[in-house]
Amino acid sequence: MSGHIAIAIDGPAASGKSTLARLLSEALGLTMVNSGEMYRAVTWKVLKSGVDPSDAEAVAKALEQMDIECGVENRLSTIAIDGVRLGPELRTEEVNRSVSLVSAVPEVREKLVDLQRGFLKFTDLVMEGRDIGTVVFPDTPFKIYVDADADVRAERRVAAGEVDAVHDRDREDSSRKTAPLKVAEGAAVLDTSKHTIESGVDAALEILSEQGLKRD
Ligand code: CDP
Ligand code: CDP
Repeated sequence: MSGHIAIAIDGPAASGKSTLARLLSEALGLTMVNSGEMYRAVTWKVLKSGVDPSDAEAVAKALEQMDIECGVENRLSTIAIDGVRLGPELRTEEVNRSVSLVSAVPEVREKLVDLQRGFLKFTDLVMEGRDIGTVVFPDTPFKIYVDADADVRAERRVAAGEVDAVHDRDREDSSRKTAPLKVAEGAAVLDTSKHTIESGVDAALEILSEQGLKRD
């Protein structure tokens, strides 16, 4: 076990995980790791290679050929596949539609969880996703499950101009066999539909302090 700390933020689509994780990383001086981008990146490559995302065997085979490189820049995680640094192309309608299928493939999860744990060897971090508190860092005492009303979450995506069937993704993410989305043991639930962004960050800092986080 390294001496670095991990804050685990999990929750359904558009609950406010990335926003909260980014602001916590700034407030606490930690690296922010967006694990969803890693699943999106593999999905992007699967689609680009013409592989059927619903064919788990073909996805696992395609994964073996991928050179996945994770990094940190300005305290934010970065991802490149086969030398291509990925960004906005990860949030297209096509990726939104297929990412839950690709994420349900056990080989994909095994590979990405390994890479996610690798970050902790060199930095303190806040990582957001679906299984960070349950699978990636189950032993961390710092765990928040972010939630928001289903209608509020769907509206947030529309307001951001994204085509994203959040309810379908949530259903698939919560019902899959490997690492389903659920509240981790020891996690505090934070409902962002009742908060502004600022008051949500304050509430999260209070939760973390109750969980024993010391600030310099
Ligand atoms: O930002 P949003 O909540 O819409 O999604 P995301 O965090 O970018 O994650 C995209 C998808 O990746 C999710 O719907 C899950 O299928 C998958 N994912 C996962 O399985 N495990 C994680 N730790 C993170 C994301
Ligand atoms: O990462 P995830 O998909 O869970 O959500 P996000 O991209 O961080 O947030 C979705 C939208 O909710 C963003 O446009 C935020 O500005 C907004 N929002 C929030 O994150 N927290 C609130 N308390 C209110 C709105």
